[in-house]
Amino acid sequence: MLKSIIRRTSISGTSRRRFTSGSAPERKVAVLGAAGGIGQPLSLLMKLNPLVSRLALYDIAGTPGVAADVSHINTRSEVAGFAGEEQLGQALEGADIVIIPAGVPRKPGMTRDDLFNINAGIVKSLCTAIAKYCPRALVNMISNPVNSTVPIAAEVFKKAGTYDEKRLFGVTTLDVVRAKTFYAGKARVNVAEVNVPVVGGHAGITILPLFSQATPTANLSDEEIEALTKRTQDGGTEVVEAKAGKGSATLSMAYAGAIFADACLKGLNGVPDVVECSFVQSNVTELPFFASKVRLGENGVEEVLGLGQLTDYEKKGLEALKPELLSSIEKGIKFANAN
Ligand code: NAD
Ligand code: LMR
Repeated sequence: MLKSIIRRTSISGTSRRRFTSGSAPERKVAVLGAAGGIGQPLSLLMKLNPLVSRLALYDIAGTPGVAADVSHINTRSEVAGFAGEEQLGQALEGADIVIIPAGVPRKPGMTRDDLFNINAGIVKSLCTAIAKYCPRALVNMISNPVNSTVPIAAEVFKKAGTYDEKRLFGVTTLDVVRAKTFYAGKARVNVAEVNVPVVGGHAGITILPLFSQATPTANLSDEEIEALTKRTQDGGTEVVEAKAGKGSATLSMAYAGAIFADACLKGLNGVPDVVECSFVQSNVTELPFFASKVRLGENGVEEVLGLGQLTDYEKKGLEALKPELLSSIEKGIKFANAN
C-alpha cells in the first residue's frame, strides 16, 4: 500500500490539510497528446502522482513506447498506451480527468493565434470524443490558443448536450508559475512561499498578473512591476525564441499541468480549499470566459473567485485585454458552430 503523503500546492496557500494516498479513491487520468513535448514529461509527472490509479496515454502515434517506459515506474497507477483514433474511445472511457496537450506548438515569430487553424480542429475532434466516452470528466485544456480552444470545447459539449461549465478548464498555471518565479527573483523572497494570482487569458496582454496581491509583500517600484508584468506576458515567447524553432515550453508546462491536474484530483477527492487560477466560464467580467482564482471541488469548479482590489495599472491592463480576449473567444465559438 502506498504511504506517500501529498501536501497541497494551492495559490492561496491557506490549507495545510494532509492527504494520505493509501485512502485515495480510484481515479483515471487520460493524457491526449501524450507522446509530445509536453505529453511525455506530463505523463511522467502524472505517473508519480499517488492520487492517480489509472493513466491512459493517447496520441496519434508513439504512445505504446511512452506507456511501456512510464509503466515501469513503481508507483500506484496502471498505465496503458493508446495510438490512433480507433483507440481514443478506450483511452477516454471512465476518465475522471482528461488533460489535452495535443496540437502544434509555436515557432519564433508566431503568435498563439497562428496555431488556431491546426489546433482548433484537433481540439474539436478530441472534445467530440470526450462528449461521447467520458462526458463527466474534468477537461484540462492546454492546447493553444487557450483563449479560443476552451470556447471551442464548450460549444462542442453544448452541441452534444453534455456541457457542464464546472468541468471545463483552460490551463493557465504556467503563467502563475512564471509570475511566482520572476517575482521571487525581483523581490528577493523565498520562491516556495510566493503566491501571485494571474487573471485574464493566456496570450500576450491578455495575461494579467496581479503583483499588487503577491505575497510575501515587497516594496517594488512601478517600473519593476511593469517589467515583471511584461516578462510574465512574454514568458512563452522567451522560451519559443530560446528554443529557436524547436517548439515552445514543454518541461515547465508539464510541471504546471501536473500541478493543475493534482489540484483537480484533490478537489474531486473532497480536499477543502483547493484554489488555482484557471480560464473558465465566468461572470467576473462581462466576458463569457475569463481566468481568475477558482475554488475546486467534487464537481469541478466550486466557486469562481473575484479579482479583489486592483491598482490603477492593473485596471488599465484589464480594460486593455478585454477586446483581444473577447475576439479570441468569439473566434473559437464561431469555428465550433461553423464546422
Ligand atoms: P508537440 O508537437 O511536441 O506535441 C504535440 C503532440 O500532440 C504530438 O505528439 C502530436 O502527435 C499530438 N497530436 C497531434 N494531433 C493529435 C490528435 N488529433 N490527437 C492526439 N494527439 C495529437 O507540442 P507541445 O510542445 O507538446 O505543445 C502542445 C500544445 O500545447 C501546443 O498547442 C502548445 O502551444 C500548447 N502549450 C500550451 C501551454 C499553456 O500554458 N496552456 C504551454 C505550452 C504549450
Ligand atoms: C507558453 O506560454 O509557454 C505556451 O502558451 C506556449 C507558447 O506558445 O508560448
